[in-house]
Amino acid sequence: MDKVLIAPATLAGIDGEFLSVLKKAGFELVFPKKKAQLTEDELLEQLTGIRGSVAGSEPYTKRVLDAHPQLRVIARAGVGYDAVDTEAATAHGVAVTITPGTNQDAVAEHTFALILAIAKNLITQHLGTCALKWPRQANLPLRGRTLGIAGLGRIGKAVALRGECFGMKLIAYEPFPDHAFAKQHGVTFVNLDQLLAQSDFLSLHLPATKDSRYLINRDTLAKMKPSAYLVNTARGALVKETDLIEALQAKTIAGAGIDVFEEEPPADNPLFHMSNVVVTPHAAGVDLQSRDDMALSAAEAIVSLSRGEWPAEKVVNPAVKATFRW
Ligand code: MLT
Repeated sequence: MDKVLIAPATLAGIDGEFLSVLKKAGFELVFPKKKAQLTEDELLEQLTGIRGSVAGSEPYTKRVLDAHPQLRVIARAGVGYDAVDTEAATAHGVAVTITPGTNQDAVAEHTFALILAIAKNLITQHLGTCALKWPRQANLPLRGRTLGIAGLGRIGKAVALRGECFGMKLIAYEPFPDHAFAKQHGVTFVNLDQLLAQSDFLSLHLPATKDSRYLINRDTLAKMKPSAYLVNTARGALVKETDLIEALQAKTIAGAGIDVFEEEPPADNPLFHMSNVVVTPHAAGVDLQSRDDMALSAAEAIVSLSRGEWPAEKVVNPAVKATFRW
């Protein structure tokens, strides 16, 4: 019986439809011993005898792939695949799949949880109220403020729709602009410098690639308004954290909402001790609905590939098709 690893800690102990789909297809399911994100060494051990992995954010490096020639599919439960060495996967004949269309609304809702938390001083006011300080103050409105969206793909669009409902002015930086969507929802496309200079809330929704690494750095932060807030629910690699900390300490930007970090889980750092920063633990993409949808879509990708079908819309290393064998 072929084995499938259910790697994400968010799926530990969950009895979802994805399990029935895999079991019905004849797979034996393996759950990691540890209910937290696996390290490279733990993944190396955990993949023994595994043909398909429903993957979280654990690192599928060349070392891991070299050690497991029996592996056929890495099916990410999610849309980012920066934790997978796709070149090594292709060289080993391993298909890498993602779950498009499953978590954009979860990310957009969480993005707005962060935007609202920083605009309304939610954490400070909650703590102050509980400490009997009754810290009343005028908070920031969202209406009329400019929401800058870096990356107007599925997730960026879901964020734009929410910004539209809040009466925000929408601008976006996007290399492959969807003009029909922009026209319908009042989004103006701008270049990166304009996005940085005009945004009151700058929200990142780009994948982590060689080109987007450290998009937000000392130089780009210096182009933002001192009253602006940075929100990152995309990937930690987009932001040079030391430069962000420097900008926040120097008050060259007003604050930040951060869900993703350069290293995860992160070590203690100054971001965790700033009253104008709200942080969450890479939680944006996973709510109860998106968790189940991502898991089911990943499970279906594994089943399809095991049956000789090719879920082209999910495979991110199509070059593997020529050599892929179950
Ligand atoms: C994604 O890649 O879509 C998200 O990061 C999913 C997750 O949080 O695991």
